[in-house]
This record gives sequence, structure tokens and C-alpha cells, in this order.
Amino acid sequence: MSDVLLVEKLDGHIAKLTVNRPEKLNALNGAVRCAIFGALDRLAADDEVRVVIITGAGDRSFIAGADISEFKDARPVEQYRSMTRGDMYSAIESFPKPVIAMINGFCLGGGCELAMSCDMRVASTSARIGQPEINLGLIPGAGGTQRLPRLVGEGWAMRLVMSGELIPGEKAEQIGLVEAAVAPEELEGHVMELASNIASRSPVALQAAKESILAARRMPLDEGLKFERSWFSLLFSTDDMAEGVGAFLEKRKPEFRGS
Ligand code: COA
Repeated sequence: MSDVLLVEKLDGHIAKLTVNRPEKLNALNGAVRCAIFGALDRLAADDEVRVVIITGAGDRSFIAGADISEFKDARPVEQYRSMTRGDMYSAIESFPKPVIAMINGFCLGGGCELAMSCDMRVASTSARIGQPEINLGLIPGAGGTQRLPRLVGEGWAMRLVMSGELIPGEKAEQIGLVEAAVAPEELEGHVMELASNIASRSPVALQAAKESILAARRMPLDEGLKFERSWFSLLFSTDDMAEGVGAFLEKRKPEFRGS
């Protein structure tokens, strides 16, 4: 475990990653990125963990973007190489278990892009969310021009990226950038309830759901439907499917084991 990233295993098959640089509003530097990669690798292989929550330390910020101090002397070739060598955002997106962003404050630039790489987002109403790279003479570089329009449509993506405007949690909920915005004191409880609900499901069905939904981005409808049908049929071979169907017919709660 690294001190810039706290990794906790909570009850009920849930792990929580907390970016821990509150004095820098949890800006993402190389050390944080490296720690997130390492943690994801370990959590992917840990059968006790079924759902991951990502959040920021303190009560002011989720993640205030990439660490701007690292931009000062960066050169194009090195910048491009480092971003393609280790794409943390795609690693989160392709992580084989559900990932929930718990947005507890500033969620800016790379922080917003990280949240969009997660499978679900819950924000505090006091959060401020946006892509302010335009203030630096930049554009988003980690999916802000790609994942954002897929979530909120082209118009809102253009507005957020071109104006650098920060929007509150409720507005983000209205435009579909987060699925829920709740009062700050309810954020942790809301996310834990959602995570516990999901963690009680079959891990193999969760992975199938995630892969199938993400496949819709890159496949035409007929290919996507075939992909979904293949996963659906494959799940008939799992103990979890037998358990789920058996539990329904016997009117009891299923106990899924992930096999
Ligand atoms: N990179 C590096 N450091 C950052 C940072 C970032 N993205 N965001 C905040 N910080 C640091 C500040 O430099 C400051 O450090 P210091 O105390 O050593 O000077 C500390 O975090 C607190 O931030 P501060 O600006 O003093 O807080 P504020 O409440 O006045 O403003 C923000 C908060 C989020 C509006 C402001 O920090 C900001 O605009 N940050 C940059 C956001 C951004 O452009 N992100 C996209 C980057 S591509």
C-alpha cells in the first residue's frame, strides 16, 4: 500500500481506493497513477473483492485533475509515450469488476475523466464537476472528448470542454454525467448501499454485464446482440446461474460464489 492511495477492504466484498493527497486536492501525479495500477492488479485477482469504490481524501475534493506541476517541463513525445504506456483510465474501464466513483468534491479534468471511466458515478450535491483544461490552453487528454459526449451528448460535452465551466452535482445528475447527486452527509451511505447491493450479485454475471454494456460502444447493434446472447448462453454453465434459478424456485435468497 502506498500513502498517496489508501486501499481498504470493507465488509461485504467491497474495496475502497482513496486518492490521498488532500493538500493538493487529490491531483493525480505519477505516484498516484502507479499506485492505482498496482491496486487494480491486486484487486482484480482477489476473489474476496466484488466491487470497487474510488474516492478522494478529505471533504473538499474527489480529484482536482492531473497534477499541473508535472506539465511544466513536459515535452510532447514523452507526454504521449507516458499516456499510451499506461492508460489508467482504460485500466479502470476494463477492470473485470464493477467500479463506482464516489464524487465528494472537486471532480475536474483527469478527475472527471477518471469518474467517467468508472461504471457508475454518485456525486455529492456540493461537488463541482468539469473539464477546465481549456483554462490552461489544453483540451482533455484522457477521454474527456470521447467518454463525455457518450454520457451527456455532444452539446453538453462541447459546452463543458469549451467553457471550462464547473457544474454542481445536481446539474451533473440532470445531464446524465452522474446517476445520482445526494447531500454530502448521505454520500457514503448511498454509495455503500449501492455497492452492497451489487456485491451480493453473481460476480461472473456482473463481469458479463459490464463487458456486454461496454461492447455496445464499439459494435453495431447486430454484433452487440450476438455478443450479449453468447454471454447469456455461457452463463447457463455457471453454478451461480443454477443457484439463482434454484433460489428463486425455492423462494430463498441466493448465495452466489462467482463460479
Ligand atoms: N494540480 C496540481 N495542484 C493542484 C491542482 C492540480 N490539478 N489542483 C489544486 N492543486 C493544489 C493547489 O496548487 C494548491 O496547492 P498549494 O497550497 O501548494 O498552492 C492546493 O491544491 C489547494 O488548491 P487551491 O487552488 O489553493 O484551492 P482553491 O479552493 O482556491 O481552488 C480549484 C480550487 C480546484 C478551483 C483550483 O485549485 C484549481 O483550479 N485547480 C486546477 C484544476 C484544473 O485545472 N484541473 C485540470 C488539470 S488538467
